[in-house]
Formats: sequence, structure tokens, C-alpha cells
Amino acid sequence: MTTLTIRRPDDWHLHLRDGDMLKAVLPETARHFARAIIMPNLVPPVVTARDAAEYRDRIMAAKPDNSDFQPLMTLYLTEETDIKDLRAAHEIGLVTAVKLYPAGATTNSASGVADFTKIRRQLETMAQIGLPLCVHGEVTDAEIDIFDREAVFIDRVLDPIRRDYPELKIIMEHITTAQGADYAQSHDNTAATITTHHLVINRNHILAGGIKPHYYCLPVAKRETHRLALRKAATSGDPTFFLGTDSAPHTDDLKEHACGCAGCFTATNTLSILAEVFEQDNALDKLEAFTSLNGPTFYGLAPNEGHITLTKGEPVAYPAKIDTKSGPVTVFDPQMPLHWRVT
Ligand code: DOR
Ligand code: ZN
Repeated sequence: MTTLTIRRPDDWHLHLRDGDMLKAVLPETARHFARAIIMPNLVPPVVTARDAAEYRDRIMAAKPDNSDFQPLMTLYLTEETDIKDLRAAHEIGLVTAVKLYPAGATTNSASGVADFTKIRRQLETMAQIGLPLCVHGEVTDAEIDIFDREAVFIDRVLDPIRRDYPELKIIMEHITTAQGADYAQSHDNTAATITTHHLVINRNHILAGGIKPHYYCLPVAKRETHRLALRKAATSGDPTFFLGTDSAPHTDDLKEHACGCAGCFTATNTLSILAEVFEQDNALDKLEAFTSLNGPTFYGLAPNEGHITLTKGEPVAYPAKIDTKSGPVTVFDPQMPLHWRVT
């Protein structure tokens, strides 16, 4: 097979940031993707309907002129989130999901949830009105090993929520473990996004032969058995699993730092990498389900009308970095030739 035409893809988990960074990274996603779930972890976070409306306006203003890219906005859930505001944001179609960050789990998550009993009314309301919950699934306890934080979160936090609100649509975001894939697959109203980079790297890429900050993200990549479980899930065609790149730009000075930021920037070359990965696993026929069909189905949206075509040929050269007015941002290096390009 040398060409592959699929419905236009969506990115169900994306960091666009704000200001100069937003202007620089948005075209990288809008080039191929029709829609994306926009993460609300700005400083300060996108907490209210008004914050979301203003952020959406800034995204629309930063969009390339000929682009019909559509941002799907989210609210950042706090223990104080106002139910009336949440309902109103949903009713006018302003927000597509609500994001749960455990306090302290990752970049700009200080305003997240520390006491999960304090979000009961919000979750009840969301289950009632059909507003999905996107979850960053890691516990933050200092005594839990960083490589175990996802599995422990599933047992301690996610499973009780799952049992208490059976109607609530839950998206386990950027899963990194076999336990995450198994849990999503075996529970109703539960889906999981998988990033491009977690299909490619394991923890050796970060730590063996010298520390590689550009492969550091959260949840951190796990051992190889987990990467293989994610590959199996993503390439299975199972509607439980869909793409959320978690493309998360940080400038090089903040990545290459004594306390480097978490995040891999994959917006630029994601589709080429995914086509390569799916071809390696003899699953090119499942790529469209992962990038373009399973996500809309879970969110109750129609798939995109348009199509893109991927063509196989000589390896594609992507820039090592993109320039932004805040400084250079390194593009994720998959350490393999990429033969598929969007044409
Ligand atoms: O690696 C990550 N980067 N994980 C997250 O959860 C947040 C993100 C960011 O905002 O940089
Ligand atoms: Zn993220």
C-alpha cells in the first residue's frame, strides 16, 4: 500500500498554551487536524465559562487564515467549580469536557483537586447532563513510586469514581500502562486516549545512555511491556482507544534544565509517526479508527466530513525544532525514518 485516505483526524488531548506560543504551535496542529480537545492548564487555569470563552476567542484569533480548525474547550475542575457555571457552559455548547488534574500531578496543576470528596456535586451534575470527564490519572503521594502512580490512581481514585457515577463518561487520558488499557477496555462509559510518543518510547529512551529531557513527559513512559500493551490497544481498532497526542510545547531552555518541564511536542510529525507505527504492526487499516472515528463516537460527535491522504515514499525530513517568539521548541524525535507524509 502506498497511499491511504482516511477521514480527517482529531486530537483528543492537546496543549496550545497562550500568546506567542499559541501562535507558533497552533498551525502545526491545524495543518492536519480538524478538531482538538484543548487542555485548560494555563496560568491561571481555565476554570469558568468566561475563561473558556475568552481562551477560545484567543485561539480563533491565532488560527491561520484559511483554517477551519475547531477548538473543543474544556474547564479545569477545582473543588470550588460552580455547578451553575458548569451547566451553562455545557448548555451553550461552549465546553466539550471537564478536566480533572489531581493537585500537583503535572504542569500547572496546583489548582487541581486534592480532596476527591469535594467534587461529588460536580461529577453528579456532569453525569446527569452528559458532560464527559477527562482524567489525568496519577496519584501524587510522595511515597508512591513515579512508575506506579497510574496503576495506584486507578485503584484508589478512578475505580471509586467509576462505581459511584456509572453514567459519567470518563476518558482516561494518555494512558501509559497495561493496567490502564485493561481498565478502560473492561468498563462501560470509559475510554482511553493514547499519545503518539508513548507508542514509540519506553523509559530507557529517557534514561539510558544519558538523560534525554525531550523524552520526559507525564505520565512518564514506563517499561517496554507497557509500551507493547499500548501498541496493541491503539492498533486493535477497539473503539475504547483513540488518539490524544498530549503535544505539550515547552521552550528548550525549560526542557534542558536542572528541573526540566514535562512534555513532548509531537504536533508537527504525529501523523507520519502514527502511520509508521501502524504499518510496523500490520494495522494500517486500523489507523482511521484510532485517529478519526473512535474519538467522535465516544464523545457523541459526528466524524469529520473531510479526508486526508497519506502517501508512502522516501523518508520525510521534519524540522528538529520550531521557532517561537518565546524560544525554540524541539520536535519529538521518533528515532526512526518516517516514510508517510500527508499529501
Ligand atoms: O507531559 C506533560 N505535559 N504532561 C502533562 O500532564 C502536562 C503537560 C504540559 O502541560 O506540559
Ligand atoms: Zn496533557
